[in-house]
Amino acid sequence: MSSLDIVEAEHLQASNLFYRNPALYDSVQADSDTVTVCRSLIDRHCPEARTLLDFGCGTGRDLAQLAQHFDCVGVDLQPGLVHYVHRVRPRLDVRIGDMRTVRLGRTAEVLVCLGNSLAYVHDNQDIQSAFRTFAAHARPESLLVLCSPVAAIEHSAPQQARVETHLGTATVTIHYEWDLRTQINTMRRHWVFDSGEEARDVIRRRVLGPRELELYAALAGFDIVEIISESGATRLTGPEAYTVARYRALSCLG
Ligand SMILES: C[S@@+](CC[C@H](N)C(=O)[O-])C[C@H]1O[C@@H](n2cnc3c(N)ncnc32)[C@H](O)[C@@H]1O
Repeated sequence: MSSLDIVEAEHLQASNLFYRNPALYDSVQADSDTVTVCRSLIDRHCPEARTLLDFGCGTGRDLAQLAQHFDCVGVDLQPGLVHYVHRVRPRLDVRIGDMRTVRLGRTAEVLVCLGNSLAYVHDNQDIQSAFRTFAAHARPESLLVLCSPVAAIEHSAPQQARVETHLGTATVTIHYEWDLRTQINTMRRHWVFDSGEEARDVIRRRVLGPRELELYAALAGFDIVEIISESGATRLTGPEAYTVARYRALSCLG
């Protein structure tokens, strides 16, 4: 990683509670159905697939399940998360890398970028670079599965939720801010654990509408197969969606 990437990773780590405490992320996400949805998309569109690369794999939570069926490699920008995976899920092949620049020197039948990881790449050129990375690891017919925010989250009043964690239950108050100019959703969370401990964090996610996803995919040589809502419905309601695309390779004009 370049020194700029290291600075960026450190900044993200400081701002996001889950990056500071990966076990907390695992416990909060324990009942996520991302892998179930992702597997059903792969089974539908690429049933013979045996190899998979996960860009922005975080704690390796999803990768651990996917690795039961696929020969997998995961990549994440946060050294702390990758070290956590090495400690907690030592059988997984997970490496430090930036999805904008990383080149693993291999291709796979399935490329995934789940849990909004793409949304942490904010600028148009960087998003294009991320798609180029997906293409650099694709072979003709490889399937790309993304889960990313496709719509703004706008709440004028703060939202509150009770969240079960391995540290006990917490009340989390969330303020959302939507910047239409940059298409970035900012989420500010205030955690108050029943133990009395408190924490705050800030998460900024870039929203890419379905038409933009089509464009970035096409520019990198992928054709959209489908974009569906989290529930599996074809009518998109947001805020997140699954995008499935197939690599056709670039023409000489690409
Ligand atoms: C919300 S987490 C999702 C992790 C995992 N995919 C999941 O669903 O549990 C977003 C992840 O993207 C990673 N990330 C952000 N920017 C990245 C980049 N440029 N390259 C690689 N990973 C990145 C973060 O470090 C973080 O682990």
